[in-house]
Amino acid sequence: MCGIVGYIGNEEKKDFILNGLKELEYRGYDSAGMSVLSGGELSVFKAVGKLVNLEQKCKDFSSVGFGVAIGHTRWATHGKPTEANAHPHIADFSNVIHNGIIENYQEIKSGLEQQGHTFISQTDTEVIVHLFENYLSKGLEAPEAFKNTIRDLKGAYAILLITKKEPNKIFYAKNASPLIIGRGKGGIYFASSDAPLIGYADEVCYLEDGSMGYIDEDNFHTLSPIKKLDQNKGYAQKEGFRYFMEKEIYEQHNVLLETMMGRASEGKITLDSIAPSFFDEIGEITICACGTSYHAGMVGKYLLERYAKIKTNVVIASEYRYASPIVKSDELFVAISQSGETLDTLEAIKFVKKFGNKTLAICNVDNSSIVRECQEVLLTRAGIEKGVASTKAFATQVMILWILSIYLGGLRGHLSSKEIEKSIEDMVESAKKTEICPKMHDKIKRISKRYLHGHGFFFIGRDVFYPLALESALKLKEISYLHAEGYPSGEMKHGPIALADSELFTVALMPEHLLYEKIKSNVEELSARDATICAVSAKEFDGADDMLYIQPCKSYMEEFFSMMCALQLFALEVAVRLGNDVDMPRNLAKSVTVE
Ligand code: F6R
Repeated sequence: MCGIVGYIGNEEKKDFILNGLKELEYRGYDSAGMSVLSGGELSVFKAVGKLVNLEQKCKDFSSVGFGVAIGHTRWATHGKPTEANAHPHIADFSNVIHNGIIENYQEIKSGLEQQGHTFISQTDTEVIVHLFENYLSKGLEAPEAFKNTIRDLKGAYAILLITKKEPNKIFYAKNASPLIIGRGKGGIYFASSDAPLIGYADEVCYLEDGSMGYIDEDNFHTLSPIKKLDQNKGYAQKEGFRYFMEKEIYEQHNVLLETMMGRASEGKITLDSIAPSFFDEIGEITICACGTSYHAGMVGKYLLERYAKIKTNVVIASEYRYASPIVKSDELFVAISQSGETLDTLEAIKFVKKFGNKTLAICNVDNSSIVRECQEVLLTRAGIEKGVASTKAFATQVMILWILSIYLGGLRGHLSSKEIEKSIEDMVESAKKTEICPKMHDKIKRISKRYLHGHGFFFIGRDVFYPLALESALKLKEISYLHAEGYPSGEMKHGPIALADSELFTVALMPEHLLYEKIKSNVEELSARDATICAVSAKEFDGADDMLYIQPCKSYMEEFFSMMCALQLFALEVAVRLGNDVDMPRNLAKSVTVE
């Protein structure tokens, strides 16, 4: 989740590039960089950390007169946040920036290394510029070399490339990562979202997947369709959504694909740079986290025990280190955190490290305290989450835990390659199910008005749908301030059912592919006591007062991801009707760095 900008024209290049990157900094800020090509000179600046460091580096640089420029703010996926890994990536006379992931970069890199190319970064992006120059060295013209380069790439990308061979052009390509080209009085502008373009461009073209080519001062009109750019900045940052939380719910489809990229594809699971031997001699797993991340951990327990057959404990970080836990020597300690800065989780890692145990972080922020404290890391790649109530980070945490459980299941011989392939297909289908269907969102908007009063909510489910029930209750509590509890549906008759009456709203998670009949009986028991039932399912349920239909699914994990979206939207729409600040709910903070 990086941000990219580009410019062709006569104005001071660094003004648009730096201002544009400021607008995109919320998408990633572990390093930033800029290249300017003007008067035959290619100048490159890179800096680790926030954008001010880049500003400082190029404070004495100026470039007026015709030229082209590209800029990038990075959210690390491949390789640590270092200057060498920061974009633009450079070859002999060309520079490139990229947002997304090149899945087959290893293969391309090995081929190019054999032909004498040397690489200085650990990134996937660097192969693009070398591949381009490799095609040029075979005698191709730049447009043809760029076309061949893009043809060879697999994955998601928005790419901008500049080269001394064609100093008045910016080469671009887009697939599954946003890219916009605009035109204004000052020249031609490129950006990965609207916000940087406001105040510069009047008209824009939102490129479609598969678009590629080059733009110079004369051929902007060949793009289509060209639209007028809405000049409202707040609206642009939220990309047209009412709230960041809503935008992040809608982003889940894309970020899940990013989470899977290079890890679960082409029938195989691979785990970044973690050597398989890291998992040798592990007898048990302890997952430690807080809040939403803890709920993801609970889902992980079901998956790790089911597929990897490894006994898994899930602990709440704030409870863990004071409870005199028994730490076994063969226990892998997995810390899950969106922010990477949660103090309780961080302290739990420090506590367990005293026993010499292996540690693994599942985290959304590279180089955060939790990542630095753990031996190994799996980054969730959700991009910056602005809404205080976590949504897309949860989705990616669950996906990573699912990937890990299938990986370990394969490693330990519990899953055949056929079963692994099938799981990857289920992952792809599950990610698809998080594409929000407008009809479902409209229905949720409509039914939310019936759930603004009463004396509370029960969210009930079984198996992985139990932690999803807990998470859905937490989402509703956080932003609507209504009382909500999650329960395993089989537990209701052991006490909570005493509360059942028509003013108690029960949201029942009823997956067709997992224990449907069992949960149905539990819901019927509540329905018989006049509780108001909202059933979430693809299957009609007679005992429900309201049905929240999800699309028909082929597996229980598809149902999981589909219900997750429906229930996040349910919480959002109830909170909106109650007039609450969805993105900044009262009493909550995005990063909890106190005990
Ligand atoms: C809920 C929420 C919190 C966090 C918790 C842990 O929407 O966001 O419950 O999940 O504070 O935070 P991280 O994951 O950053 O460690």
